[in-house]
Amino acid sequence: MENPHYLKEWYNFSGQTILVTGGAGVLGSAISRALVHAGANVVILDLSLASLADDPDLTQITAIQTDVLDVASLRHAAEQVLTQFGRIDGVVNAAGGNKPQATASAEHSFFDLPPEAIRWVGNLNLIGTILPCQIFGQVMARQQAGVILNIASIAGLRPLTRTPAYCAAKAAVGNFTQWLAVHLAQEYSPQIRVNALAPGFFLTTQNHYLLIDPETQTLTRRGQTIIGHTPMGRFGDPKELVGAALWLLSPASSFVTGAVIPVDGGFTAFSGV
Ligand SMILES: NC(=O)c1ccc[n+]([C@@H]2O[C@H](COP(=O)([O-])OP(=O)(O)OC[C@H]3O[C@@H](n4cnc5c(N)ncnc54)[C@H](O)[C@@H]3O)[C@@H](O)[C@H]2O)c1
Repeated sequence: MENPHYLKEWYNFSGQTILVTGGAGVLGSAISRALVHAGANVVILDLSLASLADDPDLTQITAIQTDVLDVASLRHAAEQVLTQFGRIDGVVNAAGGNKPQATASAEHSFFDLPPEAIRWVGNLNLIGTILPCQIFGQVMARQQAGVILNIASIAGLRPLTRTPAYCAAKAAVGNFTQWLAVHLAQEYSPQIRVNALAPGFFLTTQNHYLLIDPETQTLTRRGQTIIGHTPMGRFGDPKELVGAALWLLSPASSFVTGAVIPVDGGFTAFSGV
């Protein structure tokens, strides 16, 4: 039987340069931390780098203030990374989110959601994924190799109530992931892979207001409904995204491209009955 010596090598990221947009956020920083421990040269690209100062795992790494909606800012980041490390092996697109103004409620109906809030959510999640894929994907096309991991959401697989712009944008991220996987493999190199994770519910700053009542600090009705529809009966811990992220960034997934993988405690598998 063949000796599976490659098992140890798959998750050794030494010498690889991996960019993480939104890497200062809750999920992006969990993935960045894991990549640092796996030996990668991690470069965090985020609009706000302030939170990194408090993180012992991330203070030493390269962080570049970058706006994923600004092509000049992304080009500047690419130039800096190439000067420092010479290549880009992986990109995790974790910048994204929703906002209360784009969320329908009893006081704030769908019909009255302001176009600028809808546009903000669509831009950040969809355009903020496409633009980094253009800038960094072109580097991978030149290298004839690379891995892109987009962070979509289960909200793009099964629309959630109240968050129409977010659900639509995340569905588009999943669709774009499949499109780009085909395009890069056919037109540039089958050694460039593009996949996405669809996280379920992880309690973070962007969704805290929807899940936890600020006065009582107990679950809102929406929070209770989510737990009731999650067969595992709890929210995810950001660390629980790491295994799937490292798998999709590593040669362990060398025949996987165009996949959107839910990490959701069974939420999307459950019909409710
Ligand atoms: N938290 C969850 O339960 C959950 C579930 C499914 C999907 N997601 C998705 O996972 C990703 C990360 O979410 P999170 O919970 O860590 O959110 P977060 O708010 O903690 O992190 C998002 C990060 O993106 C950065 N950012 C925002 N706009 C930016 C811009 N224009 N350019 C560069 N950086 C920008 C923010 O500064 C922040 O650090 C998002 O795409 C989110 O939609 C989250």
